[in-house]
Amino acid sequence: MDAPVTAFISETYGSGCRHFQIHARKAILQGLSPKENREIPPLNYDFVRRIQKDFPDAEFVLNGGIKTVQEVQALLVEFPGVMLGRAPYSNPYLLAELEQLVFGTPAVTRMTVFEQYRDYMEEKMREGVYLKHMAKHLLGLYTGLPGARAYRRHLSTHMHKEDADLSVVDNAVKFVTTETYSTPDAES
Ligand SMILES: Cc1cc2nc3c(=O)[nH]c(=O)nc-3n(C[C@H](O)[C@H](O)[C@H](O)COP(=O)(O)O)c2cc1C
Repeated sequence: MDAPVTAFISETYGSGCRHFQIHARKAILQGLSPKENREIPPLNYDFVRRIQKDFPDAEFVLNGGIKTVQEVQALLVEFPGVMLGRAPYSNPYLLAELEQLVFGTPAVTRMTVFEQYRDYMEEKMREGVYLKHMAKHLLGLYTGLPGARAYRRHLSTHMHKEDADLSVVDNAVKFVTTETYSTPDAES
């Protein structure tokens, strides 16, 4: 994070941009793959803190390495917003927890999330979308809860078949027996 980024922000700010989302890592364009660039270069939240001070009437949304509700809670005290990429991708229930925390919506169970998403999949399948393209986003829904592995295994074994229908997700969810309104610390 350094002069070229500041110059870029300055230029776009000069053109009227007031909202930035910053991945707080310096990308190394030669030698590291995009995946490695999301892991190897160290996180530098201080850069975002500094740039926010330099441009006080713009908002800088912090991205990179944020994994938990607690981290979001702490970071939202000093940043106007945070962006999460991989964490909700592997644990989509995090979004339900964050919705509750940030927007004050009532808590929902994973089963409610599952049922709402099932309705969505049903509608999309009528339009010709394959189950596998949607069910993959359910893989991490029960992460950390008893039965999660069997649930995940059932989904990943059966959702790829061309004729896979909603019975795949209905049978997968039968493996899960416990509900909580939070993300367990340890993965099962
Ligand atoms: C599967 C995947 C796809 C991504 N695609 C893009 C993309 O198309 N454009 C982009 O600017 N960043 C992309 N990113 C990077 C994310 O926007 C984000 O900056 C990065 O994952 C770091 O945040 P995180 O630590 O919360 O995951 C992608 C990340 C993942 C995991």
